[in-house]
Amino acid sequence: MNWMIRAKNVFKTYPNGFQALKGIDLEIADADFFTLLGPNGAGKSTLLKVLSGLLRVDQGEIKINSLNPEKHFLQIQRFLGVCSQDNDLDPTDDVISQLIFQGRLFGMTYKEATKRAEELADLFMLNDEVKKKAQDLSGGNKRKLHCALALVHNPKLLFLDEPTVGMDPLARDNFWRVICHLNQSAGVSIFLTTQYLEEADKHASHMALIIQGNLHFNGLVKDFKLQMHPESSLNLEESYLKYVRSLTEKGENHAV
Ligand SMILES: Nc1ncnc2c1ncn2[C@@H]1O[C@H](COP(=O)(O)OP(=O)(O)OP(=O)(O)O)[C@@H](O)[C@H]1O
Ligand SMILES: [Mg+2]
Repeated sequence: MNWMIRAKNVFKTYPNGFQALKGIDLEIADADFFTLLGPNGAGKSTLLKVLSGLLRVDQGEIKINSLNPEKHFLQIQRFLGVCSQDNDLDPTDDVISQLIFQGRLFGMTYKEATKRAEELADLFMLNDEVKKKAQDLSGGNKRKLHCALALVHNPKLLFLDEPTVGMDPLARDNFWRVICHLNQSAGVSIFLTTQYLEEADKHASHMALIIQGNLHFNGLVKDFKLQMHPESSLNLEESYLKYVRSLTEKGENHAV
């Protein structure tokens, strides 16, 4: 098996003493469409940040395409695209300039970067927005720009942290067409976090469920659904609700 992501016994405590990850083990195959689910505050964005090398782990081992995110940070950034949950865009620069700048950062000539920027603006239906400053974009269009920026250098691994929040239905449909095409035709590995479980259900083959920094499930989406209800065909959202409600009922967890 070709592993794109391998994490073993990963712990992360923030400087204020809060332990966000409590021993996470995860293996994600190359070209997989994987989704990480869990309630607000479960540790999804934290895990995404440690896997992409943006945060240091306290303990544990991480390999991204056989490379260590702390030791080989720059090497990994060349094939990694990250659409983080926060829209950390340059507020005063316009859409097309930000896309071109991103391409230049990845070593493209001005001509190549402009071509790629125009391609992505078109792909993400941002054609009417290209001259607007990021701060003047609507919420959904900010998310589109963020995702477009993550794709400029044709990454082979994409981290998408709640990418479609605020996008209208047509934009979301378009977004998933783009992402699924990359996954299916170009073998791009997808690591998605989302609270829109119908999106995860529709597109992901593997999933993990994290609650209060602990892994509760890791495997095929269809196996999670089967585990929750062997005889009927519950969808992922129903299965998820059944699982987290059972924890609350058992009094095992108050944060779900
Ligand atoms: N910089 C920080 N300092 C201290 N605690 C933090 C910091 N960032 C996140 N946390 C805490 O770590 C926990 C996990 O946060 P994280 O953002 O990873 O959750 P999440 O699963 O992505 O949630 P959401 O679904 O709301 O995006 C939360 O309790 C959060 O308050
Ligand atoms: Mg998050």
